[in-house]
Amino acid sequence: MNTEDHYRETHATWDSIAGPYEELFMDLPIYDQTYVQFCELLPHAKASVLELGCGPGNIARRLLEIHPDLDILATDVAQNMIDLARKNNPSIRTQLLDCRYLDSLSGSFDGVVCGFTIPYLAAEDVANLIAHCSRLLNPRGVLYLSFVPGSNDRSGFISGSTGQRTYFYYHDRETVKEQLIQNGFNRITEEEIIYERAGGAIETHLVVHAQKNTL
Ligand SMILES: C[S@@+](CC[C@H](N)C(=O)[O-])C[C@H]1O[C@@H](n2cnc3c(N)ncnc32)[C@H](O)[C@@H]1O
Repeated sequence: MNTEDHYRETHATWDSIAGPYEELFMDLPIYDQTYVQFCELLPHAKASVLELGCGPGNIARRLLEIHPDLDILATDVAQNMIDLARKNNPSIRTQLLDCRYLDSLSGSFDGVVCGFTIPYLAAEDVANLIAHCSRLLNPRGVLYLSFVPGSNDRSGFISGSTGQRTYFYYHDRETVKEQLIQNGFNRITEEEIIYERAGGAIETHLVVHAQKNTL
């Protein structure tokens, strides 16, 4: 099985588990403070925000609770996620988009949100995504990135309760940070969030806010 097969299976799984994901994660409050921080870094309450891997629109909904007039374009590779994101946030725009192919996107944004999407991207695609986010962001634009830090060697297929699999990538936090710096992000903050999985296993999640061209 090659990387392309991993992606194909992972994307099909996300499409078919969109409903259960919505049920479990639509109202999870543990990242709320990180969304407040993101909004504080935006230039104004009507800022333009691109979301990559929006899922059922859980983050968009939180952002709109903070600033109801944000102009959000939410994207995901799974059509069922897009449908839920639109149902849950009637004011946003949506687009079916594989974030490995951001060269197809034009325009510019004040913020990009990428919540737990890079765990489904190989390291070289993460590097590419960061470069595109830098291109798509306005001066002083802010990127929100969350992932599970760890050695790339631990990456592999994981199965959920339905038995369907996703290929899960761990990413090295220092490598991600270096890529951000190389792409013009010079104000970077990190926050660790402790997450307890169903069954009791504890995971450390990393939320990064990275801003471009600040003095
Ligand atoms: C763990 S969920 C995160 C959803 C939401 N952002 C959150 O933080 O709860 C991962 C999402 O990334 C999407 N995804 C995975 N690979 C993607 C890709 N290559 N391009 C766009 N979306 C992708 C999945 O369909 C899924 O909706």
